[in-house]
Amino acid sequence: MIDVRRAEGVAEILVNHPPVNALGRGVRAGLLHAISKADADPAVKAIVIRCEGRTFFAGADISEFGQPQVAPSLADIIVALEGAGKPVVAAIHGNALGGGLELALGCHYRIATKAARLGLPEVKLGILPGAGGTQRLPRLVGVPKALEMVVFGSPIDAVEAQNLGLVDAHVEDDSQLARRAQDFAGAVAARPLPAPVSRRQVMLEDAREDPEIFARFREVHARALKSLAAPNACISAIEAAVAGPFAEGLAFERELFLRLVATEESRALRHLFFAERTAAKIDDMPLDTPVLPIRRVGIVGAGTMGIGIAMNFLTAGVPVTLVEREQKPLDHGVALIRRNYEASAKKGRFSQEQIDAAMALLTPSLDMEALADCDLLIEAVFELMNVKKDIFRRFDTIAKPGAILASNTSYLDVNEMAAVTHRPESVVGMHYFSPANVMKLLEVVRGDQTSHMVLRTVMDLAKRLGKVAVISGVCHGFIGNRMLAKRQEQAMQLVIEGALPWEVDQVLLKFGLPMGPFQMTDLAGLDVGWTRENSTGSTLKEVLCEADRRGQKNGRGFYDYDEMRNRKPSPEVVAMIEAFRARLGVTSRQIAADEIRERLLYPLVNEGALILEEGIAQRASDIDLVWINGYGWPKQTGGPMHWADAIGHETVADGLCRWRSHFGSDFRVASAFQRALV
Ligand code: CAA
Repeated sequence: MIDVRRAEGVAEILVNHPPVNALGRGVRAGLLHAISKADADPAVKAIVIRCEGRTFFAGADISEFGQPQVAPSLADIIVALEGAGKPVVAAIHGNALGGGLELALGCHYRIATKAARLGLPEVKLGILPGAGGTQRLPRLVGVPKALEMVVFGSPIDAVEAQNLGLVDAHVEDDSQLARRAQDFAGAVAARPLPAPVSRRQVMLEDAREDPEIFARFREVHARALKSLAAPNACISAIEAAVAGPFAEGLAFERELFLRLVATEESRALRHLFFAERTAAKIDDMPLDTPVLPIRRVGIVGAGTMGIGIAMNFLTAGVPVTLVEREQKPLDHGVALIRRNYEASAKKGRFSQEQIDAAMALLTPSLDMEALADCDLLIEAVFELMNVKKDIFRRFDTIAKPGAILASNTSYLDVNEMAAVTHRPESVVGMHYFSPANVMKLLEVVRGDQTSHMVLRTVMDLAKRLGKVAVISGVCHGFIGNRMLAKRQEQAMQLVIEGALPWEVDQVLLKFGLPMGPFQMTDLAGLDVGWTRENSTGSTLKEVLCEADRRGQKNGRGFYDYDEMRNRKPSPEVVAMIEAFRARLGVTSRQIAADEIRERLLYPLVNEGALILEEGIAQRASDIDLVWINGYGWPKQTGGPMHWADAIGHETVADGLCRWRSHFGSDFRVASAFQRALV
């Protein structure tokens, strides 16, 4: 795991702990031993610490969190580095993250490859850097930059790091690193030893003269920081670096770290870290399953979904052929893609060159035959089985052998679509969430006959596109929308019984979701699947549609909207709800927030457990990812399944029993919750 090579008076400590050289207990012990030995060896004039494999240390070993600390700690290693009587050089490639960067900050010098990324992303795990990062980083890069890097956890590249003084030199590529680090160490060995970072003060002086910088930072970022514990603790720790001596700041950082690592927020975020990495694994798939090359993608349908999907590929540099039946919607789709890019450019997300490059990859066409050279064909047309089947028949005749045929359906049976082709093994669902170029979730729907190769390719592609992909089996609504349906049903039922739409929404907003059930319905449109001819006025939604209350799109849904799309409760809707209740003979009652929350969320979680039992989802953490990335479930609770574990299955089971009479005759309690009741 740790090898020491000596040449020309420089000891190179080489660490090899795949996959990411996490600083677990074995690595820490080996490192400390090697550093102490090299420091004590009079023949060694300088020390280099370098890693093998794809990266420098990616941080502490996250799987060790929550377990008793085993010595030596990372802090012990950093003390040894700062106390070394000869210069220590960190030679960084890949990533120096979290504890990895903290270790590098303990070295006298840092040299990095141009592509390396350096950062303190601990906040994303609900903690703060626990080995002096909040104290040393501002001493090198100054308080404003340290606040940005620690509070938001975003890494920077080596060139920026060098401009900031965080690294001392950079090399063009990985192959030069060992040699350059050796030469660099040899050269600095002849100079006086620089002061350890912990003793430097100069970069703190501006903030010492302007202590209000912290209050201003909190104010400017109030919305992003919300009530989250970790980012707020990060600010306090950096504030301590400025306010007092290093040792006190370090002790304060440690205290905050220990407090944070025990929070439910951190447990939830660590759960999500591993959930994201596990989701890509397909339980029954051989590891050597090949990945098909995807050089061109064909998309049928230039509506909202089609253009969002197209943008996803164009942004990633994959050429797209976009097919529509008529010129007008095709032109409209292409114009919308350009407009969306330009709107993003105004926010600084794209340069004009990037927009031009993306648009140059787009080939609009009115001819399905243009899809013949595509490696992946995606239909994004109306959610009607017959229409979808027609498209799949066409795909089957047009697509080249081995091409992947995908449906963007949100509810329909992918097996039925596969059955109209002669190649069901090539058919898969790719359920994007709207807007498809923004939302991170992709449900990859595995049909009964979808081949391993197709699944592997789509999962790999999703990673390339920056999506979080989760495998779902075939069922109505797949993982996300099937669970959502249970929540929406209860939301409507609660209103019929006596709650008002905004009271229901408020409960979920307070829980941390970005919108409530009725805000979501207004956004999607109340008239999806509704026609005046077929309307019977038997549901509240139909009643609203009949009164031309169609949602945000016409400024009137469950809420009233102004031109800026600001919503306010609608007295007209209150009157309609009251009339509807009277028609049903319901005597309305006051409904407490606790009942609303339990009736919205417990059936949703129960449906998740059923989905798991039926094998539709591979694992509970996949379901959590669906809700975090597709519906904005609050990350700090780890997703619905993790949340249910945290509040206790007995609590959920009790709630399900308490409200069972409201859940309809076909309601089934999942065995996970039945067990909790025994
Ligand atoms: N601890 C334990 N395991 C880790 C890990 C870590 N810090 N970082 C990555 N891994 C594991 C992953 O779980 C994954 O395992 P499996 O193959 O078994 O699924 C494997 O390493 C590869 O990870 P990725 O799939 O993420 O690989 P990638 O090449 O896409 O990305 C990376 C590499 C950018 C380093 C990314 O893994 C990453 O961001 N890692 C976490 C970085 C981080 O948060 N560091 C801070 C840790 S906390 C800390 O250091 C506290 C402190 O102050 C002491």
